[in-house]
Amino acid sequence: MAKSGNGPLKIRTYGDPVLREVSKPVAEITPELRQLAQDMLATMYAADGVGLAAPQIGKSVRLVVIDIAKEESQRNPLVLFNPEVFPDEESELSVCEEGCLSVPDLWAEVARPNRVTFRALDIDGQPVEMTVEGTLARAVQHETDHLDGRLFVDRIGPAERAMLQSKLKKMARGRK
Ligand code: NI
Repeated sequence: MAKSGNGPLKIRTYGDPVLREVSKPVAEITPELRQLAQDMLATMYAADGVGLAAPQIGKSVRLVVIDIAKEESQRNPLVLFNPEVFPDEESELSVCEEGCLSVPDLWAEVARPNRVTFRALDIDGQPVEMTVEGTLARAVQHETDHLDGRLFVDRIGPAERAMLQSKLKKMARGRK
């Protein structure tokens, strides 16, 4: 495993089978996993992303990192092991354009609950539970989907999906 300062990890892209796997729960937060979380954050920042899930860098473990801050000076990283997301049943759906570092240059509108509660373990192994809304709620849902092998393009309507199909096929072919 890369030690700190080794630069960004390689981001896997659409068509890579690892993105379709169901990731394994983390039994113990080892120093290696903490380092992995730090390397994932560095990779995410370098790629200008707001979230990254472990399968995206080829590791099938239930770990995501998120930071929705727009400015470097406002960084506020979240490291979540074994995240579980519970949509607020009263919450309205919000529709917003999404993209993904593993599906480069492609954006689509995705409907998701605007408010969710999530539970996870933080980088120190402490349980966290938070109710969040808006962009952060969207990011938590998008990243946790990755741990179940699900991509945002699976959640768009059939008409829009049909329009993106040839781009997606080309992307999957291009990585081989
Ligand atoms: Ni993604």
